[in-house]
Amino acid sequence: MKIEDRTFIISGGASGLGQATAQELVRAGGYVAVLDMNDDNGAAVVSELGADKARFFQCNVTETESVAAAIKGTVAWVQETGKPLGGVIPAAGVSLPSTMLDRHNQPLSLPDFNFVMAVNVTGTIDLVRQALPHLAAAAGSPEDGERGVVVMVASAAAFEGQRGQVSYSASKGAITAMTLPMTRDLSRFGIRVVTLAPSLFESAMTSLMSDKVRKSLEVPRRAGRPEEFAMAARQAIENVMLNGTVIRLDGGMRMPSKL
Ligand SMILES: NC(=O)c1ccc[n+]([C@@H]2O[C@H](COP(=O)([O-])OP(=O)(O)OC[C@H]3O[C@@H](n4cnc5c(N)ncnc54)[C@H](O)[C@@H]3O)[C@@H](O)[C@H]2O)c1
Repeated sequence: MKIEDRTFIISGGASGLGQATAQELVRAGGYVAVLDMNDDNGAAVVSELGADKARFFQCNVTETESVAAAIKGTVAWVQETGKPLGGVIPAAGVSLPSTMLDRHNQPLSLPDFNFVMAVNVTGTIDLVRQALPHLAAAAGSPEDGERGVVVMVASAAAFEGQRGQVSYSASKGAITAMTLPMTRDLSRFGIRVVTLAPSLFESAMTSLMSDKVRKSLEVPRRAGRPEEFAMAARQAIENVMLNGTVIRLDGGMRMPSKL
């Protein structure tokens, strides 16, 4: 899929990995619909990218009407610009570390577990689900007839979750497991699916980690840079041979079991 003159929907596009992806796709000649809960950051990202190339839609991916409104707004914008949809990158995500049983004999909080699943899993599938009819209706690319690319975001925690990461690992494992059946469902529409599984990357999410945690995770390599994630997202869109796969972006790092 050629990025130039196509529009891409990015949730979580107002920060971190989603923001870097928005920047990379605009650099490649694309247009981006930035969906995020954070309207201050969303407005700042759009003003940096240029209002002709980017549009911000305030959106909570856990609320299906909010996702529907953002998709509707994006489709109307695409009609204005004449730059057809090319893909969706559901990058909004949260982590809420909590142990299965704490030292006070309190088990994992079910509302906390459900919150992480709601944002990371339901928020991903709902955005992709609602974008798909519009992707399938887009003109196929002249090069290979492709209509769209879905680039999902898992994590190394899907494979090596650490202590306190049961909820987060469950959510990212779900994204990983959805990749192949989704690919099989969508290939007849000319839509590819690629999942990226980063390890530790610099972002607002990981800035909350203590130095101790950060130090232990960064052995033996430095954390990834958001632009390195964005390069992989760009490749996932451009390279027609990437399909139905989960790509680890970890510099060879395997998460330790405990800190
Ligand atoms: N940074 C890392 O080390 C790392 C590693 C592996 C996976 N990931 C994944 O990458 C994705 C991006 O993470 P990041 O590190 O850039 O985090 P980030 O906190 O910098 O950005 C996440 C963005 O998602 C938005 N968001 C959160 N909940 C939302 C909701 N309900 N609706 C709409 N927007 C919402 C936030 O406002 C924020 O702008 C996440 O899915 C995360 O799990 C990150």
